[in-house]
Amino acid sequence: MKTVSTLLIAAVASALVTSACGSSEPAAPVPVYYGEVQRILQESCVECHSDSPDRLAPFSLASYEDAVAAAQTTPIAFAVLHRTMPPYYAQNDGSCQTFTSKWLSEEDLQTLVTWVNGERAAGDPARSLPPPTPAPPLPAVDATLDIGGDYTPDPRVSDDYRCFVVDALGSSAAEKFVTGAHVSPSNFTVAHHAILFSLDSAQAEADALARDAADPALGYRCSSSGPTESGATFLIGWAPGNQAQLFPAGTGIPVVGNRKLVVQMHYNLATSDGKPDRTRIDLDLADTVASRGAMVAVRGDVNLPARTPDATASGTRRLPTNLGKLRVWGAALHMHQRGIGAEVSVAGSQPACLAKLEQWSFHWQHYYPYVNAVPVAGGDTFSVTCHFDTSNDATPVRWGEGSADEMCLAYLYVSQ
Ligand code: HEC
Repeated sequence: MKTVSTLLIAAVASALVTSACGSSEPAAPVPVYYGEVQRILQESCVECHSDSPDRLAPFSLASYEDAVAAAQTTPIAFAVLHRTMPPYYAQNDGSCQTFTSKWLSEEDLQTLVTWVNGERAAGDPARSLPPPTPAPPLPAVDATLDIGGDYTPDPRVSDDYRCFVVDALGSSAAEKFVTGAHVSPSNFTVAHHAILFSLDSAQAEADALARDAADPALGYRCSSSGPTESGATFLIGWAPGNQAQLFPAGTGIPVVGNRKLVVQMHYNLATSDGKPDRTRIDLDLADTVASRGAMVAVRGDVNLPARTPDATASGTRRLPTNLGKLRVWGAALHMHQRGIGAEVSVAGSQPACLAKLEQWSFHWQHYYPYVNAVPVAGGDTFSVTCHFDTSNDATPVRWGEGSADEMCLAYLYVSQ
């Protein structure tokens, strides 16, 4: 989209300038691998592109030899200039908040592209950096939720949404606060995303248990909009590439201690190895927190005209006026396959852009945490706008869970 074309034009223009008047200007130092390109790859790529057998990405960028081989055989410059890699799509140039995701700075991007497109010099191995330390696990694991057995996603459908009722976190009704989570599917060829829900009432718990009992296989079939019609609250979301997730210090989402929870898995069968999955979720819990948190969902009204390259869906949600001062800590967006971008913002006491995605991939549905929380207040209104390409649709597209339908949702983590 806009950023991509600007970058490509800039890249082409700078190549022309360099070749036309390269001799009259002092040559820019040519980047080398050790200590320089190595740092960029370690900071932004190696978490997935490692040499570990359970790495997420199909090739390694962890050593000089790996990086040279990948530069020869994969479109690294293209992927980083388009910002499809690393796969963090929230605009992170400061124009709409600053996120902790590993978006490449303009400078690092140019260094990497120059190295990939040039001689790919090694430099001085003495400047080699130590291997990156793996992402920190949770500070404490107070409970492990388990979907209860091996579940083989239904090969007759392309997307299998499955809900699993899991144990309550405590034995009494006293509230527990979820302060962090680490989701571990066992089969990454099918696990597309996972959502942990709390159930809003005893009725919702009874409904979930009844649906589970009525379905002969492990868990029960459930729609992408949630585990029951009688009310469930989004606690934790996971998508491929997500590491352990910790809510900001002092905050956590309350759940009723002795009420069961539901793990909803979205299994996508496109690259399935046919084997089952057994997802587990480690939780860090607290008995009290300084600030109660919640995931606030903002839903866009999906009613898209056919054959439209930029069809939009939008919607708003007003915070109750009695809430006082609040903070937003991060945002996630959800659309299906036709999504091409989205924005979420807040109007009211201090209007602000909250997240802007200039491209979209169904496969990378990240939660983007802010470097600094954004102040909002009761009575403020959140707005979401999603952009879709319906060029290949002969009929209008409406809200729904199937791949023929679409969704437009923003999730904001808000606390007192
Ligand atoms: C969060 C995990 C993750 C991170 C971080 C990441 N990648 Fe990837 N990368 C993947 C996966 C998975 C694929 C396989 C294709 C896909 O699923 O999109 C991939 C594919 C690629 C490809 C092949 C794309 C193609 O069109 O064939 C390139 C090139 C690439 N990555 C480069 C990078 C570079 C360079 C970085 C860092 C600047 C990076 N990636 C960071 C996960 C990641």
